[in-house]
Amino acid sequence: MIGVYFSGTGNTRFCIDKFLMEYNGGHNTYPIEEKETLEIIKTNTELVLAYPVQYSNIPKILRDYIVNNGHAWNGKRIYIIATMGLFSGDGAGILARLLRRYGAEIVGGLHLKMPDSIGDVKVLRRGFTENKELVGNAEQKICKAVSELKNGNPPQEGLGIENQFPKMRWLWLM
Ligand SMILES: Cc1cc2nc3c(=O)[nH]c(=O)nc-3n(C[C@H](O)[C@H](O)[C@H](O)COP(=O)(O)O)c2cc1C
Repeated sequence: MIGVYFSGTGNTRFCIDKFLMEYNGGHNTYPIEEKETLEIIKTNTELVLAYPVQYSNIPKILRDYIVNNGHAWNGKRIYIIATMGLFSGDGAGILARLLRRYGAEIVGGLHLKMPDSIGDVKVLRRGFTENKELVGNAEQKICKAVSELKNGNPPQEGLGIENQFPKMRWLWLM
């Protein structure tokens, strides 16, 4: 299994590195900005794909990467990690829906609360101790998620039925 990621300020990179280190003892993770990453994706079937939630969505740079390289995802088994400052949107579900369009199978989803990287939203501003605790909690959650994946029972955060058919949520409210 290899890791592919976009990380604006390092949180997501930290999380995917930790995940792969726990999973197979290596740091075989690759940023989407590197040219070689696409070739590495093509030669691997099992991937972890990680990104930070931005404005309740996938960062545009990652969406463009997925869409522009649509042929690369067919037949891949993908585990999604979404990092976030608080929570909004469907997290892993947003990327899952996009990847399924290109023939990928989504095997799991993990949401990790990490220090905020915007800094201009009052509710997300936290002190050093609180941020340190957040990172510690995320590390523990990663270890648990890796062991669940190894036991064939990966977490499915953001991948529930309501996340696969987001419009249904509105129907239920009517
Ligand atoms: C432009 C921008 C928009 C963001 N929007 C959200 C958001 O909608 N919800 C949320 O929980 N966190 C949001 N965040 C916080 C990041 O998702 C969070 O800090 C993430 O762990 C950053 O990861 P990175 O360091 O890998 O970029 C946003 C951050 C940025 C820079």
